[in-house]
Amino acid sequence: MAAKLPASPGNGEIPEDLEAAILDLKRERNAVLLAHYYQEDEVQDLADFVGDSLALAQAAKQVDRDVIAFCGVHFMAETAKILNPERTVVIPDLEAGCSLADGCPADEFGEFVARYPDAAVLTYINTTAEVKAMSDLICTSSNAARMAAAFEGRPLIFAPDRHLARWVAKQANRPDMIVWPGTCVVHEQFSAKRLAQLLVRHPDAEVLAHPECDEAVLDQADFVASTTGIIARAIESPAKTLIIATEDGVFHQIQQRAPDKKLIQAPGMDESCACNQCPYMRLNTLEKLYLCLRDLKPEVTVPEEIRVRALRPIERMLELSQ
Ligand code: 13P
Ligand code: SF4
Repeated sequence: MAAKLPASPGNGEIPEDLEAAILDLKRERNAVLLAHYYQEDEVQDLADFVGDSLALAQAAKQVDRDVIAFCGVHFMAETAKILNPERTVVIPDLEAGCSLADGCPADEFGEFVARYPDAAVLTYINTTAEVKAMSDLICTSSNAARMAAAFEGRPLIFAPDRHLARWVAKQANRPDMIVWPGTCVVHEQFSAKRLAQLLVRHPDAEVLAHPECDEAVLDQADFVASTTGIIARAIESPAKTLIIATEDGVFHQIQQRAPDKKLIQAPGMDESCACNQCPYMRLNTLEKLYLCLRDLKPEVTVPEEIRVRALRPIERMLELSQ
């Protein structure tokens, strides 16, 4: 159980030195702070661990402190709870969802799966616990093609990202995959036409893209990978200029470790939008992190019956990813 704190100030009272207050609370609560690369720079800087979806799941499973404060989106915090149910899992903003998870409701997904009784179900980690519970195996962007290979010779459903599905189908030579047609609101906004125009101005730039991008964007990419893969490539690439087609939270780690690189955001369809910022991830602010550690809410919970069924395909992924 987490330690009880002395009487706390009202909800509106945010300490001046927020970072120090969060670190104090983290100690008092015996908490660990996990963050995704799409979080604000200052959140990443406070975290005990920053990673992509796979690394965060692996890290969450190992946590032995009382509390996991998860700075990411809901499905990531839910995965942490599924893997490590003894911990209290809190998230700064419960509304931090994901267009992929939201676009694949469990009841509709159940009907979809029932139409293909012989098919195995490979599901991206960007889904709810209920959808995971209907799956044979979970994957992330860093291992999706490898996970698809586990079902050679069997009909295969892939959900819920159709762009990632197309990329996996190519990598794993599974053109027959049955695909749930979801998309990510951030990655589908990158414009292939404007990217081509940008490349004319920067002919020596290397293009790094997340596999949730549209095919016409991925066709222009020199390197396609998860956030961890993009960051690692950006650091080690001989190219001095990098055009990056993913959420711009990844820039922070690259700038710290390769300050001499010129980083350019891949252009969106609409010049005026902040399309390369995930609106869900950015709901988690330092203020909300402080409040969630102070009050131990909002808490992320999963009904035990669903947790047990969702755990199996996640554990299987972790075993196959070793
Ligand atoms: P990664 O697993 O590559 O970090 O991706 C998470 C995600 O939500 C991409 O939009
Ligand atoms: Fe979901 Fe897209 Fe945000 Fe990733 S960037 S959490 S896939 S909405």
